[in-house]
Amino acid sequence: MSNIGSYEEKYKTFDWEISAEELEYGKNGMYNIGYYCSDRICDKGFGKKIALIWQGFKGETKTFTYDDIRIYSNVFAKFLKDNGLQDGDRVCIFMDRIPELYISFLGILKMGSIAQPLFSAFGDEALFTRLDDAKTKAILTTKKHVRKIRRIREKLPELTKVIVVDADDKSLKDDEIAISMENAPRVEHFDVFKAGKETPSVLHYTSGTTGKPKGAMHVHASIISQYITAKWVLDIMPDDIYWCTADPGWVTGTSYGIIGPWANGVTQVVLDSGFSSENWYQFIEKHKVTVWYTAPTAIRLLMKDGTDVVKKHNLSCLRHLISVGEPLNAEAVLWSEQAFGKPFYDSYWQTETGSIVITNYPEMKVKPGSMGKAFPGIKATIVDPKNFEPITKPGTVGLIALKPGWPAMFRTYWANKELYDGKFKNGWYICGDRSSIDNDGYFWFVGRDDDVINTGGHLVGPFEIESALLEHEAVAESAAIGKPDPVNMEVVKAFIALKPGYEPSADLELSIMNFIRKKLSPLAMPQEIEFVKSLPKTRSGKIMRRLLHAKEWGEEIGDTSTLEDD
Ligand code: PRX
Repeated sequence: MSNIGSYEEKYKTFDWEISAEELEYGKNGMYNIGYYCSDRICDKGFGKKIALIWQGFKGETKTFTYDDIRIYSNVFAKFLKDNGLQDGDRVCIFMDRIPELYISFLGILKMGSIAQPLFSAFGDEALFTRLDDAKTKAILTTKKHVRKIRRIREKLPELTKVIVVDADDKSLKDDEIAISMENAPRVEHFDVFKAGKETPSVLHYTSGTTGKPKGAMHVHASIISQYITAKWVLDIMPDDIYWCTADPGWVTGTSYGIIGPWANGVTQVVLDSGFSSENWYQFIEKHKVTVWYTAPTAIRLLMKDGTDVVKKHNLSCLRHLISVGEPLNAEAVLWSEQAFGKPFYDSYWQTETGSIVITNYPEMKVKPGSMGKAFPGIKATIVDPKNFEPITKPGTVGLIALKPGWPAMFRTYWANKELYDGKFKNGWYICGDRSSIDNDGYFWFVGRDDDVINTGGHLVGPFEIESALLEHEAVAESAAIGKPDPVNMEVVKAFIALKPGYEPSADLELSIMNFIRKKLSPLAMPQEIEFVKSLPKTRSGKIMRRLLHAKEWGEEIGDTSTLEDD
């Protein structure tokens, strides 16, 4: 029996209050996520239960109970407060997937600041853009990554505290401070900040077609959605060992890599190392993982290595498998049935939605290739892109639209209310994805409705790549698009017109690729560069990515009447 039981029944009778009541959300005026993910679990008598088993890339492990999580998050909370940080300040976490990342996240929330996790593979420019936009006050990092901050700190006057969590005194500069979670005096009690339901909690940066990345602002009440979706969709039960493979630099890694599982009091495992099938299967077998939340790109990589390597391991511990971030193709679902004896269940959501909104449920029939149905409490439909009216004819493609109002929905884009307002049409929140709905109410994903590139489940903004490309000495103009890729679904391809005096060459191509990898991240690095004389533009001078994209994907080019060179 699953946690959700009958989906149809739950959809009909659902109220978010059910989740709030289970969580006892608001008891004694407490709304702070930090409390619900640590202190509350201890108060209920599970202080000795293991909250986190962490494994590093050398195979070394560390184990933390809920009591440890409570005390160490208090240590961070007190330290930040003692260092002058206040409620509402943005505090960035910039580190690999080490225990301090997960625990400081709760510490930041407990003292009332806003947690701003950033992917540790970001380069100087990607990091600068996001810290500058959020006017971030403090950053928690490690010796390995502090160098990037040093290179941009001068340009960030608001960034007053650089805090290194694994430093010895010698490795620090005068204007940096150190904290060691495990060596600092234990903080048995910390007065958790009395956040309200609508107090900002987490700021996650995400990419759009135009402009800089934007910060989706979430509030403490998001836990109401994250708790119940983790329970009903991930089907987390008290004795489970749960593994979310996502990095908390992205929303999956916080909503379902910290808040959802810990609000449910489950034991979770974290693997802080790169991908290899052998490693992953060993990890599942060693820790007896029961619930596994991962992404289609990872599943496709596992598929490439075949079922022989699966058979070398005892993976009978696996009970429920869920996927997110990109289209989960039917082949991957069928392969997983062969390999693990169970299908992957698809789940759809976004940084902005904060929690799963459309998905498959344990006791609902899975139609391989479909994303499933709306979560109870979420009204989802598809609308006509012209008038934003719901489309009722099954099988017609339209834009995915959600009725606003569930607890985890973002409340604004940081310092960009205009962009936020533009996401709502005719009373619907428009996700920016295209889909159809079949006769049984299942959603079938078609594609994005903008130029954002989804590579391996990570969104990369073409504008950010193009702006960075322009900073390369040889580049006159550029366009970045996604090109089809058998594993990552899409990878970045750049079209580049060179400045006079530069000639295309393999060396130049490599130099440009590396330039982007260092400035932005390995994800944003073009896997292919095509040198062109000029780029197709509209009459007003805008580069027509649509045309380049259509050519690359072998699609119809459509209306080109506004092209400059017609
Ligand atoms: O385009 C959709 C795709 O990922 C986008 C959201 O990306 P992000 O905000 O980074 O959040 C990722 C993790 C929640 C969506 O707009 N996407 C997400 N899940 C699916 C998906 N595309 C197809 N199928 C999915 N299950």
